[in-house]
Amino acid sequence: MASEVSEHLRERRLLLGISAGIAAYKAAQLARLLMRAGAEVQVVMTPAAREFIGEMTLQAITRRPVRCAIFDAAHEAAMGHIELARWADLILVAPASADFLAKLQAGMADTLLHTLCLASEAPLAVAPAMNQAMWRHPATRHNVLGLQGRGVHILGPAEGDQACGDSGPGRMLEPEQLLQAAEALLHKGRMAGIRAVVTAGPTREPLDPVRFLGNRSSGRMGYAIADALLREGAEVTLVSGPVSLEAPPGARLIRVQTALEMHQACLRAINDADLFIACAAVADYRPSERASQKIKKDADTLTLDLVRNPDILADVAALPQRPFCVGFAAETNDLERHAEAKRRAKGVDLIAANRVGDGEGFEVDENALLLVWDGGSSSLPRQPKQRLAEQLVSFISERMDAQLTTEDS
Ligand code: PMT
Repeated sequence: MASEVSEHLRERRLLLGISAGIAAYKAAQLARLLMRAGAEVQVVMTPAAREFIGEMTLQAITRRPVRCAIFDAAHEAAMGHIELARWADLILVAPASADFLAKLQAGMADTLLHTLCLASEAPLAVAPAMNQAMWRHPATRHNVLGLQGRGVHILGPAEGDQACGDSGPGRMLEPEQLLQAAEALLHKGRMAGIRAVVTAGPTREPLDPVRFLGNRSSGRMGYAIADALLREGAEVTLVSGPVSLEAPPGARLIRVQTALEMHQACLRAINDADLFIACAAVADYRPSERASQKIKKDADTLTLDLVRNPDILADVAALPQRPFCVGFAAETNDLERHAEAKRRAKGVDLIAANRVGDGEGFEVDENALLLVWDGGSSSLPRQPKQRLAEQLVSFISERMDAQLTTEDS
């Protein structure tokens, strides 16, 4: 838990919005963490949020009067709502209820908090918290997609047990995770302004309703890369196969199962991306047919007919307006030779090759990479995947800068 002053939050102005939900009690802890990290925090609550947490608590923590009323003569004479909207470096609404998101999407301004969200040009992040059925409801899905499309950062939600007794997606992220997301959003890192799409995890190719062809990828490497990019200020879409990891706060997560779904999701997301990193272990082949019923073990042998999956990385690299493309190469031998062959065959800017098998690469916490680009190669030594991902992101940033300089000259 970050209890020290953060270089990215110190003296930054954070407008902490609280809407009505049981998770509002966690906003007090979040306010405390933000204050400890050195931020100036102004709490703005919706009127209904006052049913869930007391103003006095938040005022004591932030050392500022809590704002709530939209028509407040005293405040309008001092820091009126437009000044407050201009004051904020970041607006973070936690918790954001289904009702709050619906009104935000509709552009309504019937509470002070909604008015500020409309009137401010600061980045806006929301941490949804609601019952799992409400989160899954098509109306909420529509609202969240619309907000995402307008550049609102959707933080979470997490999955798990809910106060209402249900279990599923809709839990607000923990205050520590929201603190981390706020830091990343305010950090003008070396990847600030970069839109990145990252693939991670395995794909599953169904044979019948209960069986699939898959592989051992845990998603750890790809999720670590997404996290490192976010920490450097990038906007990240994470296209992930089935894994048991939580997406880093701030990433736009698209879950897929098969290679065809991953292919479609990537080509949709890549539109205006600057960077594509393909870390997923995508199945090269899929069963030519998916049996509609469970395959019976009638015969002694079973022959599967497989067809080739599209190559996501090669297809993205072949786009006319393509992003900077980074591929991985999972190899058991001759790392450099195979990596160079893949770089050429797929037409990418950089290949990060790793040794796999015998407890290496897949499913483990550490990894080492050989980076191969046109005209050079370099090694990143074995270390935890988080640290390796930071070094990889730093290297990619240098290569992207070098490419821009070459194009300009
Ligand atoms: O998930 P972990 O447990 O942390 O393990 C990490 C990892 C070992 C999976 C990761 O570091 C890694 O090596 N990922 C790439 C695995 C792979 O499929 O490599 P490949 O050499 O078969 O494919 C080459 C490249 O083409 C990869 O970037 C792959 O994502 C991409 N590809 C492959 C096939 C396909 N149909 N579409 C693709 O985009």
